[in-house]
Amino acid sequence: MHNNNPFLVVLFVAASFYRGSDAAASFCVGDLTRQPTPSGYPCKNPENVTVDDFVFTEFVKRVNTSNANKASIVRANSTTFPAFPGLNGLGLAVARADIEPGGAIPLHSHPAATEMIYVAEGSITAGFISGASNVVYVKKLNKGEVMVFPRGLFHFQVNTGKEHAVGIASFSDSEPGVQLVSLAIFGNDFPSFLVEKTTSIDEAEVKKLKALLGGSG
Ligand SMILES: *[C@@H]1O[C@H](CO)[C@@H](O)[C@H](O)[C@H]1NC(C)=O
Ligand SMILES: *[C@@H]1O[C@H](CO)[C@@H](O)[C@H](O)[C@H]1NC(C)=O
Ligand SMILES: *[C@@H]1O[C@H](CO)[C@@H](O)[C@H](O)[C@H]1NC(C)=O
Repeated sequence: MHNNNPFLVVLFVAASFYRGSDAAASFCVGDLTRQPTPSGYPCKNPENVTVDDFVFTEFVKRVNTSNANKASIVRANSTTFPAFPGLNGLGLAVARADIEPGGAIPLHSHPAATEMIYVAEGSITAGFISGASNVVYVKKLNKGEVMVFPRGLFHFQVNTGKEHAVGIASFSDSEPGVQLVSLAIFGNDFPSFLVEKTTSIDEAEVKKLKALLGGSG
């Protein structure tokens, strides 16, 4: 017999929510003193979990931006050093980006993660290129604004303002991976004549960029 009792339906829905929010099953703070497994660290004994396991304080520090890009990133997940043990098993990573005026995080993609950036200081001109139609979605983000870069798409962040800029990013995977377009083309031993053939950038320019980005051939 088909059961249409609304009371039972409500009970069933409530029970599913209850299971989903069972505190014991909803987190596994990594015990960093033990050996990690491919799925992360074994869980810390719940008695030894403290609020500090869920708080990451490393991003209060400014990152050194003395480099050619005038920009730097520090990334963290549950296993990096310093680690954020509360992220263990949650499939997330976080990062802080510091960008000087005129600096840039070069065009890159994260094959495994969607990224969301929050502008904590200054302003950041950010954008991504859509996959199928190569439409460029770009906008100058002011302090407090958030932008999302869908997984795998090429994106960038540039400081076109006059103040130091800081972005806090979160990623939908503990290991987002990163591929920089400039290094993929000019930072390796991809033969220059093939780079010219496959990108239409003339060989002299290719050799110049290879010298700049540590490539050869
Ligand atoms: C957990 O905390 C208890 C009490 O502070 C301590 O005796 C025990 O060694 C701790 N266990 C671990 C694995 O740190
Ligand atoms: C930043 O890095 C540069 C280059 O590595 C170094 O010379 C400089 O001392 C660093 N600055 C600080 C404040 O650590
Ligand atoms: C955290 O990031 C590091 C550096 O990318 C990576 O080697 C490590 O596998 C990541 N940890 C997890 C749990 O994905």
